[in-house]
Amino acid sequence: MELKLISCCLLSCLAAAYAGNILAVFPHDGYSHFKVVTPVLEELARRGHQLTVISFVNNTAANYEQLLLATEAEQATTINREYLNGMQTGRSLKNMFVEYFDLFKGAQTNCERLFASGYVQQVLQRHQRQPYELLLTEYFSSDCQLALGKLLGLPIIGLSTCALMPYHYDRIDLPDTPSHIQSQYVGYAQRLSWFERLENFIQAKSLKLLYAHHTNRADNALIKRYLHLDMDVAAVAREQTAFIWVNQHYSHLGSRPRTPQLLEIGGVHITEQAKQQLPTHIAKFLQQSPQGVIFISWGSQVLASSIDQHKLQSMLQVLSAQPLNVIWKWEADKLPLMNNEKFLFVKWAPQLALLAQAEVKIFWTHAGLLGMTEALHCGKPMLMTPIYGDQFLNAHAAQTRGVGLILSYEDIKAAQLKTKLAALSKPE
Ligand SMILES: *[C@@H]1O[C@H](CO)[C@@H](O)[C@H](O)[C@H]1NC(C)=O
Repeated sequence: MELKLISCCLLSCLAAAYAGNILAVFPHDGYSHFKVVTPVLEELARRGHQLTVISFVNNTAANYEQLLLATEAEQATTINREYLNGMQTGRSLKNMFVEYFDLFKGAQTNCERLFASGYVQQVLQRHQRQPYELLLTEYFSSDCQLALGKLLGLPIIGLSTCALMPYHYDRIDLPDTPSHIQSQYVGYAQRLSWFERLENFIQAKSLKLLYAHHTNRADNALIKRYLHLDMDVAAVAREQTAFIWVNQHYSHLGSRPRTPQLLEIGGVHITEQAKQQLPTHIAKFLQQSPQGVIFISWGSQVLASSIDQHKLQSMLQVLSAQPLNVIWKWEADKLPLMNNEKFLFVKWAPQLALLAQAEVKIFWTHAGLLGMTEALHCGKPMLMTPIYGDQFLNAHAAQTRGVGLILSYEDIKAAQLKTKLAALSKPE
């Protein structure tokens, strides 16, 4: 009995020794980013680490103290934000600047929110009582939150929810080789032509300069204004980054240079639990689709209902005439078709749970990284229509790997769509 007690004590001491106090700061408000971050945080909490999490997502897990940056109503506005009509969907130097400034503006707003929330002071006080041992944060479009890393003297793990931005390489001495490693902001088939290499080089290098002289400076100025500290976030990132965890996997993006400080965690968000979450009306529709279905989802941000009318008509025409049924993520109340048994429109699609079903034969995606990773995991062929951000890079990588075909947004016309669907339906 005593022996049992002693070994119990020893075991719990060991567990306590291995569990740490983690400060997790995720000030970016994009919904899909949480989908990668949340399973990581929940797993850390499950393993006994004590987490303090500053973010936009409500979570009620154990060992998880949350400091929310958004009210319940604001949390609902993190989805369905991008309109298709009028969107510039190509990759060009101009679009890169447009996207950079969009991200910059959003990030600065979120940084102000973080500093105005009072959470920094709260965390500093908590650190006096129970010191944090690690800062886990997102490396994406700003570094204002690294002020906490500096103030508390913590090692930093930066989690990148997409392929690394060009300005992250130097933090961990990762070889930066735009001659053949594509930047987030391009997206070409491999191997790159001479001109594509040049364009990739110019994009990657100019973005890096812009980030250093514009974003970093703005972050430093915000820190000075709110926390009255003179600090260079770039230096903190350089000196205190212990690891970068990147949501990519070589099976998709191919071989990329790595150092011991870079860990590929692509697929980390895929859980058995998420695979099971199939609502009954969707399961029923699958049962009534013996020949299978095409699943169309362009992600949490894009409003499917904002598609150009003539493209929508081409899609409806071709989809109606082919043998597979269709499940379509369509957030609007007004549906493009009524009373048609071939189509099921859903406001929110349980993406992984659907992709895991044998009835799903083709996934028509916007080439967002999470859906693609899930489709790769489930072995589903993809039709890919990249819209913005890293989606071009993701789509070309998958096409190069032979697991999907690109149909660009501009090319959504009946003939092209029919050809691509036929090619994807061909048996091996
Ligand atoms: C967080 O989630 C809990 C449980 O679902 C809910 O009761 C609470 O109102 C939510 N809080 C916010 C701020 O969203």
